[in-house]
Amino acid sequence: MPNTKLIDRHNRHLNYLRVSITDRCNLQCMYCVPQDLIPRLSHAEILTYEEILHVVSIGISLGITKVRITGGEPLIRKGVYEFLSELTQIPGLLDVSMTTNGVFLKDNIENIRCAGISRINISLDTLDRKKYEKITGWDGFDQVWQGIEMAQALAFYPIKLNIVALKGVNDDELIDMARLSFAYPFHIRFIEYMPIGQSRMGNASLLLAPEIKERIRVLGNLVPIRNSKNDGPAKRYKFEGAKGEIGFIPALSQHFCEKCNRLRLTASGQLRPCLLSDHQEDIKGPLRSGRSDQELAEIFLKAVHHKPSDHNLAGHNSIRVCGEMRAIGG
Ligand code: 5AD
Repeated sequence: MPNTKLIDRHNRHLNYLRVSITDRCNLQCMYCVPQDLIPRLSHAEILTYEEILHVVSIGISLGITKVRITGGEPLIRKGVYEFLSELTQIPGLLDVSMTTNGVFLKDNIENIRCAGISRINISLDTLDRKKYEKITGWDGFDQVWQGIEMAQALAFYPIKLNIVALKGVNDDELIDMARLSFAYPFHIRFIEYMPIGQSRMGNASLLLAPEIKERIRVLGNLVPIRNSKNDGPAKRYKFEGAKGEIGFIPALSQHFCEKCNRLRLTASGQLRPCLLSDHQEDIKGPLRSGRSDQELAEIFLKAVHHKPSDHNLAGHNSIRVCGEMRAIGG
């Protein structure tokens, strides 16, 4: 297997591309939706599927082996299942996964499977129906849960449940969420809220991984699992006797930038070397003006060259990243 040519100034080897296929979402999560309505991208502004596949292929020629499809909510984009089928057939891609809010899983789980996807992350911040509505603006907990159970029945693996931990919102459920890992082979992932963009949350809601870990310890001994080569920043654990795992994404409490292996492609065709930096390289313009693959590859290398050493999120009260989380894809 060829090694990546995408090596940054800090000797990080980048092999993971996160691709946002739409900035639109059907939910309005309290930690994600901006206070002021931001204009949505027009149809012409977002990359076509063909363009995305082209950019991904160039990434693969440079050493990308892992792609995650995100949004907004990826499953609301028309034609997504055909796109996923084409994507998973590109030679050289070893790992294709998707992050979804789960709303459309129930009715489309077979389509997702047939498209060659078996690894999914689902955002689920609560197990309480009323609270789900409060957080997302939509009374859909039961529908999402049914989708998750169907994914489980169809042997999707791993199924990761993403929980953005928020004080005063869902911190009373940490133990219940963690307990799911005994009954199901799910990976329960507690994500520290990142104060970026212009959501309605303040810093008062911060709940850091060490505190979460301490609180869920009542369920048993958390045994560390060694990260494998392609793993992201999650710190992985397992309760003794559990079927699933517990993970923490300590975006604030622990710097994991030195291990970052990611690049992002936004729905509007920008390559972003860091979620928390506004630096981006336009690849859509050159693509649409017919530049050669070699020239497009150079744009990848330029983006990689600008990858900052770290984001220093903990050092700021709040970071204003001009692109909102929902457009970049988390
Ligand atoms: N901080 C941390 N996680 C966030 N997500 C969205 N916004 C934030 C934020 N401000 C999560 C979503 C999704 C994942 C891709 O990112 O819940 O599961």
